[in-house]
Amino acid sequence: KFDGLALTPPMGWNSWNKFACNINEKLIMEIAEVMVSSGMRDAGYEYINLDDCWHGDRDSLGFIHPDPERFPSGMKVLADFIHSKGLRMGLYSDAGSRTCGGRPGSRGYEFQDALTYANWGVDYLKYDWCNTEGLKAEGAYKTMAAALKKAGRPIILSICEWGDDEPWKWGPAVGHLWRTTGDIFNCFDCVEDHGTWKSFGVMQILDRQKGLRQYAGPGRWNDPDMLEVGNGMQENEDRAHFSMWAMIAAPLIAGNDLRAMTKETIGILTNKEVIAVNQDSLGIQGFQYSVKDKLETWFKPLKDGSWAVCFLNRNDSPQEVDFDWAKEAVQDSLSKRDLDNRAGEYTIRNLWTKKASGTTEKRFKATVPSHDVVMLRLIRNI
Ligand code: DGJ
Repeated sequence: KFDGLALTPPMGWNSWNKFACNINEKLIMEIAEVMVSSGMRDAGYEYINLDDCWHGDRDSLGFIHPDPERFPSGMKVLADFIHSKGLRMGLYSDAGSRTCGGRPGSRGYEFQDALTYANWGVDYLKYDWCNTEGLKAEGAYKTMAAALKKAGRPIILSICEWGDDEPWKWGPAVGHLWRTTGDIFNCFDCVEDHGTWKSFGVMQILDRQKGLRQYAGPGRWNDPDMLEVGNGMQENEDRAHFSMWAMIAAPLIAGNDLRAMTKETIGILTNKEVIAVNQDSLGIQGFQYSVKDKLETWFKPLKDGSWAVCFLNRNDSPQEVDFDWAKEAVQDSLSKRDLDNRAGEYTIRNLWTKKASGTTEKRFKATVPSHDVVMLRLIRNI
Protein backbone atom coordinates (compact mmCIF):
# COMPACT_ATOMS: atom_id res chain seq x y z
CA LYS A 1 0.00 0.00 0.00
CA PHE A 2 2.09 2.90 -1.15
CA ASP A 3 0.16 6.09 -0.45
CA GLY A 4 3.01 8.18 0.94
CA LEU A 5 1.96 7.69 4.58
CA ALA A 6 4.32 6.29 7.22
CA LEU A 7 7.43 6.62 5.06
CA THR A 8 9.35 6.14 8.30
CA PRO A 9 8.09 4.07 11.27
CA PRO A 10 5.23 5.87 13.04
CA MET A 11 6.11 7.54 16.35
CA GLY A 12 3.72 8.44 19.11
CA TRP A 13 2.03 7.31 22.30
CA ASN A 14 -0.73 4.76 22.99
CA SER A 15 -2.84 4.36 26.11
CA TRP A 16 -2.93 0.55 26.39
CA ASN A 17 0.35 -0.60 27.96
CA LYS A 18 -0.02 1.64 31.00
CA PHE A 19 -3.70 2.48 31.30
CA ALA A 20 -5.55 -0.41 29.60
CA CYS A 21 -9.29 0.42 29.79
CA ASN A 22 -8.80 3.19 32.30
CA ILE A 23 -8.80 6.19 29.94
CA ASN A 24 -10.64 9.50 29.72
CA GLU A 25 -10.35 12.83 27.92
CA LYS A 26 -8.54 14.60 30.76
CA LEU A 27 -5.80 11.98 30.73
CA ILE A 28 -5.45 12.17 26.95
CA MET A 29 -5.24 15.98 26.97
CA GLU A 30 -2.63 15.92 29.72
CA ILE A 31 -0.60 13.37 27.78
CA ALA A 32 -0.77 15.56 24.66
CA GLU A 33 0.47 18.53 26.68
CA VAL A 34 3.39 16.60 28.15
CA MET A 35 4.24 15.23 24.74
CA VAL A 36 5.07 18.83 23.86
CA SER A 37 6.57 20.05 27.17
CA SER A 38 8.82 17.00 27.61
CA GLY A 39 10.43 17.54 24.21
CA MET A 40 8.99 14.34 22.80
CA ARG A 41 7.10 16.08 20.01
CA ASP A 42 10.27 17.84 18.94
CA ALA A 43 12.10 14.51 19.04
CA GLY A 44 9.63 13.17 16.46
CA TYR A 45 6.67 11.71 18.37
CA GLU A 46 3.50 12.60 16.56
CA TYR A 47 0.49 10.38 17.29
CA ILE A 48 -1.63 10.37 20.45
CA ASN A 49 -3.44 7.06 20.16
CA LEU A 50 -6.42 5.95 22.21
CA ASP A 51 -6.60 2.18 22.49
CA ASP A 52 -9.51 0.00 23.60
CA CYS A 53 -12.43 1.21 25.72
CA TRP A 54 -13.04 4.77 24.49
CA HIS A 55 -16.35 3.58 23.03
CA GLY A 56 -19.88 4.10 24.23
CA ASP A 57 -22.79 2.66 22.25
CA ARG A 58 -24.04 2.89 18.70
CA ASP A 59 -27.11 5.08 18.21
CA SER A 60 -30.30 3.96 16.42
CA LEU A 61 -28.70 4.77 13.05
CA GLY A 62 -25.63 2.73 13.87
CA PHE A 63 -23.22 5.61 14.51
CA ILE A 64 -20.63 4.96 17.20
CA HIS A 65 -20.25 7.45 20.07
CA PRO A 66 -17.58 7.75 22.72
CA ASP A 67 -18.31 6.77 26.31
CA PRO A 68 -20.23 9.87 27.50
CA GLU A 69 -18.82 9.75 31.00
CA ARG A 70 -15.18 9.36 30.05
CA PHE A 71 -15.27 11.53 26.94
CA PRO A 72 -18.04 14.08 27.61
CA SER A 73 -16.65 16.64 25.14
CA GLY A 74 -16.70 14.16 22.28
CA MET A 75 -13.99 12.99 19.92
CA LYS A 76 -14.02 15.97 17.57
CA VAL A 77 -13.13 18.30 20.43
CA LEU A 78 -10.41 15.93 21.57
CA ALA A 79 -8.99 15.63 18.06
CA ASP A 80 -9.03 19.43 17.66
CA PHE A 81 -7.19 19.78 20.95
CA ILE A 82 -4.56 17.24 19.92
CA HIS A 83 -4.15 18.93 16.54
CA SER A 84 -3.79 22.33 18.22
CA LYS A 85 -0.68 20.94 19.93
CA GLY A 86 0.86 20.07 16.58
CA LEU A 87 0.11 16.37 17.09
CA ARG A 88 -2.09 13.78 15.42
CA MET A 89 -4.91 11.69 16.81
CA GLY A 90 -5.27 7.91 16.76
CA LEU A 91 -8.25 5.71 17.57
CA TYR A 92 -8.78 2.00 18.00
CA SER A 93 -11.39 -0.42 16.75
CA ASP A 94 -11.75 -4.13 16.06
CA ALA A 95 -12.56 -6.12 12.94
CA GLY A 96 -14.97 -8.32 14.91
CA SER A 97 -18.33 -7.83 16.56
CA ARG A 98 -16.75 -6.59 19.81
CA THR A 99 -13.34 -5.25 20.79
CA CYS A 100 -11.14 -7.31 23.11
CA GLY A 101 -12.45 -5.09 25.92
CA GLY A 102 -16.06 -5.88 24.96
CA ARG A 103 -16.89 -2.54 23.30
CA PRO A 104 -18.70 -2.37 19.92
CA GLY A 105 -16.50 -3.62 17.07
CA SER A 106 -16.64 -2.41 13.48
CA ARG A 107 -17.86 -5.62 11.84
CA GLY A 108 -20.69 -4.64 9.50
CA TYR A 109 -20.12 -0.93 10.23
CA GLU A 110 -16.75 -0.49 8.53
CA PHE A 111 -17.70 2.27 6.10
CA GLN A 112 -19.86 4.09 8.62
CA ASP A 113 -17.11 3.98 11.27
CA ALA A 114 -14.41 5.09 8.85
CA LEU A 115 -16.55 8.06 7.86
CA THR A 116 -17.16 8.89 11.52
CA TYR A 117 -13.42 8.75 12.29
CA ALA A 118 -12.65 10.97 9.30
CA ASN A 119 -15.29 13.49 10.43
CA TRP A 120 -13.76 13.60 13.89
CA GLY A 121 -10.30 14.23 12.43
CA VAL A 122 -8.71 10.91 13.22
CA ASP A 123 -5.27 10.31 11.65
CA TYR A 124 -4.44 6.73 12.71
CA LEU A 125 -6.50 3.61 13.31
CA LYS A 126 -5.32 0.57 15.22
CA TYR A 127 -7.62 -2.28 14.17
CA ASP A 128 -7.72 -5.27 16.51
CA TRP A 129 -8.71 -8.91 15.93
CA CYS A 130 -10.89 -10.11 18.82
CA ASN A 131 -14.32 -11.72 18.26
CA THR A 132 -13.77 -12.30 14.56
CA GLU A 133 -15.29 -15.78 14.22
CA GLY A 134 -15.88 -16.62 10.56
CA LEU A 135 -13.79 -13.73 9.24
CA LYS A 136 -10.61 -14.06 7.18
CA ALA A 137 -7.98 -11.61 8.31
CA GLU A 138 -6.78 -10.33 4.96
CA GLY A 139 -10.32 -9.70 3.73
CA ALA A 140 -11.44 -8.07 6.96
CA TYR A 141 -8.48 -5.67 6.96
CA LYS A 142 -8.99 -4.95 3.26
CA THR A 143 -12.57 -3.93 4.00
CA MET A 144 -11.45 -1.40 6.57
CA ALA A 145 -8.66 -0.17 4.28
CA ALA A 146 -11.25 0.40 1.53
CA ALA A 147 -13.54 2.17 4.00
CA LEU A 148 -10.76 4.51 5.13
CA LYS A 149 -9.88 5.27 1.53
CA LYS A 150 -13.50 6.04 0.73
CA ALA A 151 -13.75 8.31 3.78
CA GLY A 152 -11.19 10.48 2.05
CA ARG A 153 -8.89 11.39 4.93
CA PRO A 154 -5.30 10.10 5.08
CA ILE A 155 -5.41 7.64 7.99
CA ILE A 156 -2.64 5.23 8.98
CA LEU A 157 -3.95 1.67 9.28
CA SER A 158 -2.29 -0.38 12.02
CA ILE A 159 -3.12 -4.06 11.59
CA CYS A 160 -3.34 -5.79 14.97
CA GLU A 161 -3.76 -9.47 14.10
CA TRP A 162 -0.88 -10.81 16.29
CA GLY A 163 0.93 -12.62 13.48
CA ASP A 164 -1.11 -15.82 13.27
CA ASP A 165 -2.16 -15.26 9.68
CA GLU A 166 1.31 -14.06 8.57
CA PRO A 167 0.16 -10.46 8.04
CA TRP A 168 3.66 -9.50 6.79
CA LYS A 169 2.71 -11.34 3.58
CA TRP A 170 -0.48 -9.41 2.81
CA GLY A 171 -0.17 -6.42 5.20
CA PRO A 172 2.11 -4.32 2.96
CA ALA A 173 -0.70 -4.04 0.39
CA VAL A 174 -3.40 -3.35 2.98
CA GLY A 175 -2.06 -1.26 5.88
CA HIS A 176 1.02 0.63 7.03
CA LEU A 177 2.12 -1.64 9.88
CA TRP A 178 1.15 -5.03 11.21
CA ARG A 179 1.69 -6.68 14.56
CA THR A 180 4.02 -9.67 14.35
CA THR A 181 3.26 -11.22 17.77
CA GLY A 182 0.95 -11.33 20.75
CA ASP A 183 1.16 -8.59 23.35
CA ILE A 184 4.33 -7.25 24.90
CA PHE A 185 4.64 -6.76 28.66
CA ASN A 186 7.19 -5.04 30.83
CA CYS A 187 9.71 -7.77 31.46
CA PHE A 188 13.09 -8.08 29.77
CA ASP A 189 13.15 -11.81 29.04
CA CYS A 190 9.93 -13.64 30.03
CA VAL A 191 6.81 -15.26 28.63
CA GLU A 192 3.45 -15.14 30.38
CA ASP A 193 0.93 -17.87 29.63
CA HIS A 194 -2.70 -16.74 29.92
CA GLY A 195 -4.17 -20.08 28.81
CA THR A 196 -5.63 -19.22 25.41
CA TRP A 197 -2.95 -16.62 24.67
CA LYS A 198 0.58 -15.64 25.65
CA SER A 199 2.28 -12.32 26.21
CA PHE A 200 5.97 -11.75 25.76
CA GLY A 201 8.81 -9.85 27.35
CA VAL A 202 10.96 -7.59 25.23
CA MET A 203 13.60 -10.18 24.26
CA GLN A 204 10.94 -12.79 23.55
CA ILE A 205 9.31 -10.38 21.12
CA LEU A 206 12.67 -9.66 19.51
CA ASP A 207 13.28 -13.38 18.95
CA ARG A 208 9.97 -13.60 17.11
CA GLN A 209 11.05 -11.09 14.42
CA LYS A 210 13.33 -13.57 12.64
CA GLY A 211 12.84 -13.80 8.89
CA LEU A 212 10.59 -10.74 8.68
CA ARG A 213 12.92 -7.93 7.70
CA GLN A 214 12.39 -8.35 3.99
CA TYR A 215 8.74 -7.33 4.38
CA ALA A 216 9.45 -3.91 5.91
CA GLY A 217 10.18 -0.69 4.09
CA PRO A 218 8.89 2.87 3.66
CA GLY A 219 5.11 2.78 4.16
CA ARG A 220 5.07 -0.82 5.50
CA TRP A 221 6.49 -1.82 8.86
CA ASN A 222 6.71 -4.89 11.05
CA ASP A 223 5.20 -3.96 14.41
CA PRO A 224 6.78 -5.80 17.35
CA ASP A 225 4.30 -3.98 19.62
CA MET A 226 4.49 -0.79 21.61
CA LEU A 227 7.21 0.38 23.96
CA GLU A 228 7.42 -0.56 27.63
CA VAL A 229 10.08 2.08 28.33
CA GLY A 230 9.29 3.78 31.64
CA ASN A 231 6.88 1.05 32.75
CA GLY A 232 9.03 -0.60 35.40
CA MET A 233 12.02 -2.35 33.83
CA GLN A 234 15.49 -1.24 34.83
CA GLU A 235 16.99 1.74 33.04
CA ASN A 236 19.53 -0.44 31.20
CA GLU A 237 16.72 -2.78 30.07
CA ASP A 238 14.66 0.15 28.83
CA ARG A 239 17.72 1.41 26.95
CA ALA A 240 18.28 -2.01 25.36
CA HIS A 241 14.57 -2.26 24.45
CA PHE A 242 14.53 1.19 22.84
CA SER A 243 17.80 0.60 20.99
CA MET A 244 16.62 -2.69 19.53
CA TRP A 245 13.27 -1.23 18.45
CA ALA A 246 15.31 1.47 16.68
CA MET A 247 17.53 -1.16 15.04
CA ILE A 248 14.59 -3.16 13.69
CA ALA A 249 12.79 -0.09 12.32
CA ALA A 250 9.86 -0.68 14.66
CA PRO A 251 7.14 1.89 15.22
CA LEU A 252 8.14 3.89 18.32
CA ILE A 253 4.88 4.13 20.22
CA ALA A 254 5.54 5.01 23.85
CA GLY A 255 3.28 3.22 26.32
CA ASN A 256 4.14 4.85 29.64
CA ASP A 257 2.61 7.64 31.74
CA LEU A 258 4.33 10.63 30.18
CA ARG A 259 3.16 12.81 33.10
CA ALA A 260 5.33 10.89 35.55
CA MET A 261 8.58 10.25 33.68
CA THR A 262 11.98 10.16 35.35
CA LYS A 263 14.70 12.08 33.60
CA GLU A 264 16.26 8.74 32.68
CA THR A 265 13.08 7.72 30.86
CA ILE A 266 12.90 11.04 29.03
CA GLY A 267 16.57 10.66 28.14
CA ILE A 268 15.91 7.27 26.55
CA LEU A 269 12.73 8.22 24.71
CA THR A 270 14.22 11.44 23.31
CA ASN A 271 17.69 10.27 22.30
CA LYS A 272 17.69 11.91 18.88
CA GLU A 273 20.62 9.96 17.48
CA VAL A 274 19.00 6.64 18.34
CA ILE A 275 15.69 7.90 16.92
CA ALA A 276 17.55 8.90 13.75
CA VAL A 277 18.60 5.27 13.31
CA ASN A 278 14.94 4.22 13.57
CA GLN A 279 13.68 7.01 11.32
CA ASP A 280 16.37 6.65 8.67
CA SER A 281 14.80 7.24 5.26
CA LEU A 282 16.35 4.15 3.68
CA GLY A 283 13.82 2.26 5.79
CA ILE A 284 15.74 -1.01 6.01
CA GLN A 285 15.20 -3.12 9.10
CA GLY A 286 18.41 -4.10 10.88
CA PHE A 287 19.62 -7.67 11.17
CA GLN A 288 21.35 -9.91 13.63
CA TYR A 289 24.90 -10.43 12.43
CA SER A 290 26.19 -12.74 15.15
CA VAL A 291 25.41 -14.28 18.53
CA LYS A 292 27.94 -15.54 21.00
CA ASP A 293 27.24 -16.37 24.64
CA LYS A 294 24.09 -14.28 24.61
CA LEU A 295 26.00 -11.33 23.20
CA GLU A 296 24.29 -10.30 19.98
CA THR A 297 25.65 -8.01 17.30
CA TRP A 298 23.17 -6.19 15.08
CA PHE A 299 23.68 -3.99 12.02
CA LYS A 300 21.38 -1.56 10.19
CA PRO A 301 22.39 0.16 6.95
CA LEU A 302 21.57 3.87 6.81
CA LYS A 303 20.77 6.22 3.96
CA ASP A 304 23.96 8.29 4.05
CA GLY A 305 26.20 5.23 3.75
CA SER A 306 26.75 4.88 7.48
CA TRP A 307 25.77 1.89 9.63
CA ALA A 308 24.13 1.57 13.00
CA VAL A 309 25.68 -1.17 15.13
CA CYS A 310 24.26 -2.49 18.36
CA PHE A 311 25.91 -4.90 20.78
CA LEU A 312 23.17 -6.40 22.95
CA ASN A 313 24.08 -8.29 26.11
CA ARG A 314 21.28 -10.65 27.16
CA ASN A 315 23.42 -12.29 29.80
CA ASP A 316 23.07 -11.71 33.53
CA SER A 317 26.69 -10.59 33.77
CA PRO A 318 28.75 -8.03 31.82
CA GLN A 319 30.38 -9.12 28.56
CA GLU A 320 33.35 -7.88 26.61
CA VAL A 321 33.06 -6.82 22.99
CA ASP A 322 36.14 -7.17 20.87
CA PHE A 323 35.18 -6.50 17.28
CA ASP A 324 37.66 -6.38 14.46
CA TRP A 325 35.98 -4.38 11.68
CA ALA A 326 38.63 -5.36 9.17
CA LYS A 327 38.17 -9.08 9.72
CA GLU A 328 34.40 -9.35 9.85
CA ALA A 329 32.34 -9.87 6.71
CA VAL A 330 29.23 -7.80 7.27
CA GLN A 331 26.97 -8.03 4.25
CA ASP A 332 23.38 -6.99 3.88
CA SER A 333 21.40 -8.84 1.26
CA LEU A 334 18.59 -6.25 1.29
CA SER A 335 20.56 -3.04 0.80
CA LYS A 336 23.23 -4.97 -1.10
CA ARG A 337 25.81 -3.19 0.99
CA ASP A 338 28.92 -4.46 2.70
CA LEU A 339 30.67 -2.94 5.62
CA ASP A 340 33.59 -1.63 3.65
CA ASN A 341 36.55 -2.79 5.63
CA ARG A 342 39.28 -0.55 4.33
CA ALA A 343 41.16 0.88 7.27
CA GLY A 344 39.85 4.13 8.66
CA GLU A 345 36.77 4.11 6.52
CA TYR A 346 34.34 5.03 9.30
CA THR A 347 34.49 7.17 12.40
CA ILE A 348 32.64 5.73 15.38
CA ARG A 349 30.07 7.61 17.38
CA ASN A 350 28.65 6.10 20.57
CA LEU A 351 24.92 6.94 20.53
CA TRP A 352 24.31 6.62 24.28
CA THR A 353 27.45 8.26 25.66
CA LYS A 354 27.17 10.71 22.74
CA LYS A 355 30.92 10.64 22.29
CA ALA A 356 33.31 9.93 19.44
CA SER A 357 34.97 6.56 19.81
CA GLY A 358 37.84 6.36 17.29
CA THR A 359 37.63 4.82 13.87
CA THR A 360 37.14 1.36 12.40
CA GLU A 361 40.85 1.20 11.79
CA LYS A 362 41.29 -0.30 15.25
CA ARG A 363 39.36 -3.17 16.77
CA PHE A 364 36.51 -2.00 18.93
CA LYS A 365 36.63 -2.96 22.58
CA ALA A 366 33.98 -2.24 25.16
CA THR A 367 32.22 -3.77 28.14
CA VAL A 368 28.48 -4.22 27.72
CA PRO A 369 26.72 -4.37 31.11
CA SER A 370 24.10 -7.04 31.70
CA HIS A 371 20.78 -6.46 29.87
CA ASP A 372 22.21 -3.41 28.17
CA VAL A 373 23.60 -2.28 24.85
CA VAL A 374 26.48 -0.41 23.33
CA MET A 375 25.07 1.31 20.27
CA LEU A 376 27.21 2.96 17.62
CA ARG A 377 26.95 4.82 14.38
CA LEU A 378 29.75 4.18 11.90
CA ILE A 379 30.01 7.34 9.87
CA ARG A 380 31.58 7.27 6.47
CA ASN A 381 34.68 9.42 6.19
CA ILE A 382 34.35 11.09 2.84
C1 DGJ B 1 -5.04 -6.75 22.01
C2 DGJ B 1 -3.95 -5.93 21.42
O1 DGJ B 1 -2.90 -6.74 20.97
C3 DGJ B 1 -3.44 -4.92 22.45
O2 DGJ B 1 -2.38 -4.17 21.95
C4 DGJ B 1 -4.58 -4.04 22.91
O3 DGJ B 1 -5.02 -3.26 21.81
C5 DGJ B 1 -5.72 -4.87 23.44
N1 DGJ B 1 -6.12 -5.91 22.51
C6 DGJ B 1 -6.93 -4.02 23.76
O4 DGJ B 1 -8.00 -4.77 24.19
